[in-house]
Amino acid sequence: MSRKVCLTGIKPSGIPHIGNYFGAIKPAIELAKNYDARYFIADYHAVNTIKDAALLKELTRKLAATWMACGLDPDTMMFYRQSDVPETFELTTILMAFTSKGLMNRAHAYKASVQENTLAGNDPDAGINMGLFTYPVLMAADILLFNTNIVPVGKDQKQHVEIAADVAQSLNHIYGKDLLTVPEPVISETTQVIVGLDGRKMSKSYDNVIPLFLPSKKLRKIVMKIVTNSQEIEEPKNPETSHIFSLYKLFATEEEQASAHERYLTGGMGWGHAKQELFEIMDAHFTPMREKYDMLMEDPSHIDAILKEGAEKARTIASETVKRLRNAIGID
Ligand code: ADP
Ligand code: TRP
Repeated sequence: MSRKVCLTGIKPSGIPHIGNYFGAIKPAIELAKNYDARYFIADYHAVNTIKDAALLKELTRKLAATWMACGLDPDTMMFYRQSDVPETFELTTILMAFTSKGLMNRAHAYKASVQENTLAGNDPDAGINMGLFTYPVLMAADILLFNTNIVPVGKDQKQHVEIAADVAQSLNHIYGKDLLTVPEPVISETTQVIVGLDGRKMSKSYDNVIPLFLPSKKLRKIVMKIVTNSQEIEEPKNPETSHIFSLYKLFATEEEQASAHERYLTGGMGWGHAKQELFEIMDAHFTPMREKYDMLMEDPSHIDAILKEGAEKARTIASETVKRLRNAIGID
C-alpha cells in the first residue's frame, strides 16, 4: 500500500531561525519516517517581499542547505524549488476561479496588513501587492498539486492550509468527483509558537529571531540579548513567564528542565547565568548541524543540482494533477 503524503514549504525570505526549525523543519523530518515526504522552497512566495535577485538566490541556497543540515535526505524525500515546478502556476490559475474573494479578504496575513495601515491612518491597501492578497491560492496550489494528506506547519499557517482544503472541497463538489486530495494541517502541540528575543512570536518580520547556525560567538551574543525583567540575582524567578526558560525547554531533557525550574524558583540564579546555560545547550545541539551546513554552503552547485533533480521527480506528479484537472474542467 502506498504511504500518505506529507508536504511543506518554507519561503526564502530571511535567514532560517529556530522558530522555523522547531515549527516546521524538525517535525517535517520526523514525519518523513512514516509518510512520503515532499518538501520545497517557496521562492515565488518570497518575491512578494524580496526584490533583490542576488539576495533571493543566496537565501534560497541557505534555506536548502539548512534543510539538508537538519536531516533532509534528498534520496528518500522529494526536495525542490517551487519555481522549478511550473505546473504550480497553471494550477494557481485554475484554483483562482474556485476561490472566493471573501475568503482572501479574511486571510490573516492580508487582514493584519490592512489593520496596520488603518491604524497608521494610511490607505487600507497601502504597500499590499496582489502576491500578498492571493498568497493563499499559490499556497493551495503547492499543496494540492502533490495529493497531500498532511501539512506540518506552525500555528500561523493553519488558516492557509484550511483555505487549501476548502478550495479542494469546492472543486470536488462542483465536478462531483475526488479530483483533489483534501489536506489537513498538522501542528505540533509543544512547538506551536516559539518565542523570540522579545517574547513575541519569533519571526523575521519582528526582527527578534535567533538564526540557526550562527558561529558560537555570535550565537552567545544574540542569546544575551533576550529581554528579561530587572529582578536581582538572589530573587526567586518564575520560569513559566521567562522567555529564556521557554527556549531552554526546547533543548533540555526532562531532568534538565526540572533542575532549571527548581533553580529559578529558589533564587540565586541571575538572568545572565540562565542565558549562559541556554547558550551552551543550544550550541551543543546545533554544532554538528552547523558543521554540515558550512560544508554544504561551500559547494552551491551541489545544492543546485540536488534541487534540479528533485524538481524532475516533482514534475512527474505535478503534471499528472494538472492533466487530471484540465480534463475535468474542459481544457485539454
Ligand atoms: P517568519 O514568521 O519568520 O517569516 P515563516 O513565515 O517563513 O517565518 O515560517 C516558515 C515556517 O516556520 C512556517 O511553517 C511557520 O509556521 C514556521 N514558524 C515560523 N516562525 C515560527 C515560530 N516562532 N514558532 C513556530 N513555528 C514557526
Ligand atoms: N506560507 C508558508 C510560510 O509562510 C510557506 C509555504 C508556501 C507553505 N507554500 C506552502 C507551507 C505549502 C506549507 C505548504 O511559512
